[in-house]
Amino acid sequence: MANPHDPKVHESVSASAAANGVVPSGDARVGKTGRARPFTLPGCSAIITGASSGLGAEFARQLRLSASTLVLAARSGDALEKLKAELGNGQLQVHVVACDLSTEAGRAALWEKVSTLPTPPNLLINNAGLGDYGQFMEASEARIRSQIDLNITALTMLLHEFVARTQATEERPSAIINISSLASTTPVPELAVYAATKSYVSSLTEGLAIELESRHIRLLAVCPGPTPTNFGKNARREAGKDTDRSGQDLLTVPPQRVVSSALHSLEVGHRRMFPGKRVALAAFLFEKMPRWMLRGILTARYRRAMAK
Ligand SMILES: NC(=O)c1ccc[n+]([C@@H]2O[C@H](COP(=O)([O-])OP(=O)(O)OC[C@H]3O[C@@H](n4cnc5c(N)ncnc54)[C@H](OP(=O)(O)O)[C@@H]3O)[C@@H](O)[C@H]2O)c1
Repeated sequence: MANPHDPKVHESVSASAAANGVVPSGDARVGKTGRARPFTLPGCSAIITGASSGLGAEFARQLRLSASTLVLAARSGDALEKLKAELGNGQLQVHVVACDLSTEAGRAALWEKVSTLPTPPNLLINNAGLGDYGQFMEASEARIRSQIDLNITALTMLLHEFVARTQATEERPSAIINISSLASTTPVPELAVYAATKSYVSSLTEGLAIELESRHIRLLAVCPGPTPTNFGKNARREAGKDTDRSGQDLLTVPPQRVVSSALHSLEVGHRRMFPGKRVALAAFLFEKMPRWMLRGILTARYRRAMAK
């Protein structure tokens, strides 16, 4: 396996700025009292939400050698137990919590488990999330609600509770990785609610990164493009069609690279990152092009998809 945190696999808008001698605007290392200490992974104790598959399971695999404790949460208890068995080694403590994080009861079950640990975790990976491909007016209320409940409400409430519990100090900062998306940088017809929830995630992360710096808590928004996981299968409605995938091949990055570059970004103090050069370029274009031009491209793409 490649070194999970090898800087060579790290690509982000901020990294290219740094390579050009520019300090990224989201660089947590520069505080008003001088250089704030960046988060370091060795010995960390992490909560990973949505750890039963995809990116969440990959975070657990890549943290296996550096973490002391992992708390894995998702609804599928069997998949979590399987992952726990795969990770098993003498040093690493792995705890599994099968719970629905979109409910208050599910989140309470997670914190109940966390309360049994000798010290509160110092890393939260807020990864659980889901999407819904298709027309907004044909979406069931349940599918709309589940995206808001998980991608927004659960992520926010978990973050709030984590900050209240974690014992961050200047010498040993804590950290939060929020999994956002490339979709946070542009409206997406037929994935509109999901894209809006991810805009929320990125905005929340960057706002709180400033607010929580004095509490010694580092925040990072990770914004992947298309990544082969169970996401697409789960986002597809029963008898519904797949999303428009034109152009996506160019942007696809494997989960291993998304996670290794995210962990590297956390350790160097970035606040928002896009895994993969092409994903970073797409984000740059979505954010910098005039709004009228973006609307025109999105409209043409939407009409083409409708005509198929
Ligand atoms: N894959 C992509 O193309 C892509 C691109 C950009 C961003 N992302 C983001 O990446 C994150 C991870 O997704 P993924 O790609 O790894 O997809 P995935 O393989 O479908 O994983 C989603 C995880 O979330 C968990 N989950 C879903 N509903 C839950 C609930 N109510 N309570 C607790 N856990 C729940 C799932 O486990 P259970 O079903 O067992 O609960 C699973 O472990 C998401 O936030 C997603 O929005 C993905």
